[in-house]
Amino acid sequence: MGPDPLSTSVVNFIRVNYTDKGRGLESPLAIKEQHFYHSRPIIVDVIEVGKRMLDNFHICIEASGFDSLSRVLTDSKRCYNSCLLLADDNVYPLFGDAIKELLQKQGLTVHTLSLPAGESSKTCATAERCWHTMKEIELDRGSLVVGLGGGVTTDIAGFVSACFMRGIDCIHVPTTLLGMVDAAIGGKTGVNLGDAKNYVGAFHQPVAVCVNVACLESLSRKEVSSGMAEVIKYGVISDSQFFSFLEENMDALMKLEGAVLEDVIRRCAEIKLRVVTEDEKEQGPRVIFNFGHTFGHAIEGATDYAKYLHGEAIAIGMCCAAQLAVDQKEIAPSVLERIESLCQRAGLPVRIPEELSARRLLDLMRHDKKALHGVLTLIIPDSLGSVRVARDIDEETVLNTLEKRREIKS
Ligand SMILES: NC(=O)c1ccc[n+]([C@@H]2O[C@H](COP(=O)([O-])OP(=O)(O)OC[C@H]3O[C@@H](n4cnc5c(N)ncnc54)[C@H](O)[C@@H]3O)[C@@H](O)[C@H]2O)c1
Repeated sequence: MGPDPLSTSVVNFIRVNYTDKGRGLESPLAIKEQHFYHSRPIIVDVIEVGKRMLDNFHICIEASGFDSLSRVLTDSKRCYNSCLLLADDNVYPLFGDAIKELLQKQGLTVHTLSLPAGESSKTCATAERCWHTMKEIELDRGSLVVGLGGGVTTDIAGFVSACFMRGIDCIHVPTTLLGMVDAAIGGKTGVNLGDAKNYVGAFHQPVAVCVNVACLESLSRKEVSSGMAEVIKYGVISDSQFFSFLEENMDALMKLEGAVLEDVIRRCAEIKLRVVTEDEKEQGPRVIFNFGHTFGHAIEGATDYAKYLHGEAIAIGMCCAAQLAVDQKEIAPSVLERIESLCQRAGLPVRIPEELSARRLLDLMRHDKKALHGVLTLIIPDSLGSVRVARDIDEETVLNTLEKRREIKS
């Protein structure tokens, strides 16, 4: 973990400073400022990275409450007039009124739109519905979209704000673990095109991401597990120490123990931000976040997005990618065993269900967005904490690996 005992902090502000070019990317994050807010400590980290994206972007990690959202709006140089608060119909009843009241106190006229919960809402039709609403309520370039919810909502909120009047500001308030550690960060937005996942979208950075960790208390265990897959991914792709930390603390994490959970969310945000600020549009290193995703998306597609939550499919995908690395003799079988075991402790599946044929999955993998000129692009570990982009693995080898990862029921 990082050098600082974050367990004592209530709110962590990660402020990205884009003006100090190129410094600090490799070094651990240092606490630069400490502020006091409502007599509770706020630790402000300045991640010093080269320009890109925005010059004033906050990720706020708060143990409980939405104070950071008020603070972001108070501190903002932009003075928003009105806002569309977007949430799904599970999330709005939980947190919608609190957020609406908070936004109104900041002087915004707030309109709300509640969408049916679930991946099936992530469509062009939903985006169009949002744009019509935004037009009817007369949002303009000085308006704001707030995406309150899991990755589905923040992906839609980001996308509709990216395109409306060629781009208006948005703030994400993620309420799932997957949203907090991954989906809300990094500016990838979009919707599905039929069964083609995230085929229509845009890169659009939120002006802030406000995390209230206590939101996770109402989340089902299955959804917590799904988010934990992305957490484990960060360990495998870029930080073996973090992976060991997860091995030591997985039981506490699954019980949503506050201090350790805040540490983990913060670490994931740091890892994602470092790479994204280097490669916002996934022309280079950002592709590593797709570890497990080419396999995982194929598994989601082959099961009509109905059998597995996103993170569950990604867990199976990560084990497939690690198996491929074992088969290629790039990592020891013990690395695969550790990944598999950690996923299982997080309540995640690790094997392809028997009813899915390896060939069908391979067909779906060929349509992955990362496939260039029909050549499969796979992210595979070359040690624990490091991955490589593999475009050199032939399809027969992948097929073989998929077969090995299928569940064998006697
Ligand atoms: N943009 C990115 O970089 C990125 C990264 C990873 C995943 N994603 C996308 O994220 C989506 C998956 O996100 P998700 O797993 O958060 O799914 P989700 O948004 O569907 O949320 C999962 C479920 O939890 C409910 N929920 C949300 N917060 C809750 C809370 N606090 N208490 C109780 N219930 C709550 C939701 O209503 C929903 O039913 C996928 O569409 C995936 O493509 C995007």
